[in-house]
Amino acid sequence: MAKVAAVQHVCSECGTSTGRWLGRCPGCGEFGTLVAEAAPSRGQRRPAQAGELAVRPPLRLVDVVAEESERLSTGVPELDRVLGGGLVPASLVLVGGEPGVGKSTLLLSALGAIARERRGLLITGEESVAQVKLRAARLGGCDDVEILAETELDVVCETLERERPAVAVIDSVQTLWSQEIGSAPGSVSQVREAAARLLRVAKEAGVATFLVGHVTKDGSVAGPRVLEHLVDCVLQFEGDRYHEHRILRAVKNRFGSTNELGVFEMTGAGLIGVPDPSELFGRTHAGEVGAAVTCALEGTRPLLLEIQALVAPTDLAMPRRVGTGVDPKRLAMIVAVLSRHAGLALGGADVFVNVAGGVRIDEPGADLGIALAIASAAKGVPVREGAVAFGEIGLTGRLRPASQSDRRSEECRKFGSALVLGPQLDTLRRALGAGLAENPA
Ligand code: TYD
Ligand code: MG
Repeated sequence: MAKVAAVQHVCSECGTSTGRWLGRCPGCGEFGTLVAEAAPSRGQRRPAQAGELAVRPPLRLVDVVAEESERLSTGVPELDRVLGGGLVPASLVLVGGEPGVGKSTLLLSALGAIARERRGLLITGEESVAQVKLRAARLGGCDDVEILAETELDVVCETLERERPAVAVIDSVQTLWSQEIGSAPGSVSQVREAAARLLRVAKEAGVATFLVGHVTKDGSVAGPRVLEHLVDCVLQFEGDRYHEHRILRAVKNRFGSTNELGVFEMTGAGLIGVPDPSELFGRTHAGEVGAAVTCALEGTRPLLLEIQALVAPTDLAMPRRVGTGVDPKRLAMIVAVLSRHAGLALGGADVFVNVAGGVRIDEPGADLGIALAIASAAKGVPVREGAVAFGEIGLTGRLRPASQSDRRSEECRKFGSALVLGPQLDTLRRALGAGLAENPA
């Protein structure tokens, strides 16, 4: 008889399991993420007899009855936007983010607004009821939220099935544990079991459920990444806890577009939505060298962003190109095109680029803004006042139209921009000529 391993080693990043410990996960290639867990016991299974299984014939898609259910507003417009226009009833939403970024605060405010019209239940495993009460007092308007401090999965599921609130928040999925699973709370098998059970409860009892999941870099707590395929939506809450701005984005959304973006500001009275982030991120100081404004598209939302660049002489044989919020490959390409097609000698200089407010740009439409900031820093000449630049840069130095140029131009006009530099200028050299102020010398 084959020997059955009593212990399996599970990757805390991707969930791959192996029979023995390995330094590197064969699934995702991360190092040092495999942790020992008790293997699930496999009872003797008897093959199913004919007639035992309820096999239903498949349906044609045209015969399937599906009504688009009405979405619930969470009372937080930025959250609604990221969810694709509100919360879908009976859906399971995972909200991930580093500890301290404000997940509990955001969801408590949302629950407070929801509870005014429907039942909203907060299941807290991390904070005591009294701690939540103190936080609620700071936020205000959470009087109708129901709360339960519980970490045992069976009790949580039973409660949801019995109480059937419209919306439940589980803070956090890593504190839930089930006795049937031998491993510690927060381990991959516990977290996965909790999410699978809660998914079933959400669908069957019609409870829209937010799961809070911590993302930590050391593998001690199972990363929410192992849950991404299970849940309906994955929202990521970003921004570092030492700055007041937070960005919420959808990484996965079964009911709407991803790439939608919500911007918040953390204040003494909780998170406040920023309805006009262009105003916040798109202002530069007049006459400042190395700063340019671009118009990036985040989902359906055009957003003006300040880009800052520093070009500093270096003795390194391989000068550095460091970008915060921009793709390093894209940055290397822009620097190369600037050297080759715009006559900027950057070979002996380090180039640093930074995007305002911790926003991450992942679309080529911002290329021209990045190039303009670098050119301004390299030449020591400020960008013309009120200029906004967008457009994709091709390898030949020619500008390509950015997607949805009209919406971007519209946003620039709304912002009162005096000079919109776009693909109509045709080449990078001409765009830089038009965007940089006269050399004062
Ligand atoms: P929290 O929601 O507890 O973070 P998470 O659940 O993601 O771990 O938020 C923690 C931070 O937010 C904490 O550092 C304090 C700050 N904060 C405020 O600045 N103002 C507030 O009104 C609240 C409730 C929190
Ligand atoms: Mg919390």
